Amino acid sequence: MEKLVNTSKLIHDKIVRVMTKRLKTNEFKKVIDAGSGKISASIALKYFPNAKVDAVIFPGDNRKKNPLQNAIGSDRLEIMEADICNTNFRKQYDFCLVHCSLGEALRWGNSFENMFHHIMDIKAKYFLIIDIFEDPCVHFRYIEQYLKEKGFKILKKKKFKNPTPEHYPKVKIDKYKLEFDSKHYMVYLVQNIS
Ligand SMILES: C[S@@+](CC[C@H](N)C(=O)[O-])C[C@H]1O[C@@H](n2cnc3c(N)ncnc32)[C@H](O)[C@@H]1O
Repeated sequence: MEKLVNTSKLIHDKIVRVMTKRLKTNEFKKVIDAGSGKISASIALKYFPNAKVDAVIFPGDNRKKNPLQNAIGSDRLEIMEADICNTNFRKQYDFCLVHCSLGEALRWGNSFENMFHHIMDIKAKYFLIIDIFEDPCVHFRYIEQYLKEKGFKILKKKKFKNPTPEHYPKVKIDKYKLEFDSKHYMVYLVQNIS
């Protein structure tokens, strides 16, 4: 019996359910959670019940590693410590979940653009990109432009209201002065048609 975090009341759970409802998720065998944590890993294990899930975290990010190890018990989950911007993922994946990891690129010394390019280089059929609309480190116009230029197909784009907004305290990262409330999530379901 798998041990997962109960995510059923969380907006993140609803987002993944709504956005993937037309996909044959039962048939997915390999999923990557690019920028993982106990919430996204639990949701991936829940909505892709026949898939193995590679949960990628930045090397040494114990904020994420310890809860993943302690809160989840599943032989379908593999925790991988790897810098996405410095790793060639050789596997072919059915699905890549990108759950609030783009906004953290700078924290680990990468630019948003570099992190996004490397994520989109992962060999996955579908991507679900979820991030906080108000986060100044996430450039949604850039995302859309890049996907268009590189021939990815946006199957669905939707903005979700966050029923439980959090206040992100004032910090300065690189050129960004961050202080925002997570009032909405911007979400893209993307198909790799190459
Ligand atoms: C805000 S957390 C994501 C939350 C997570 N999806 C959840 O549901 O709990 C950001 C994640 O991105 C990862 N991350 C950020 N930059 C990364 C990089 N360059 N390579 C690998 N992981 C990265 C962090 O280690 C962390 O796991």
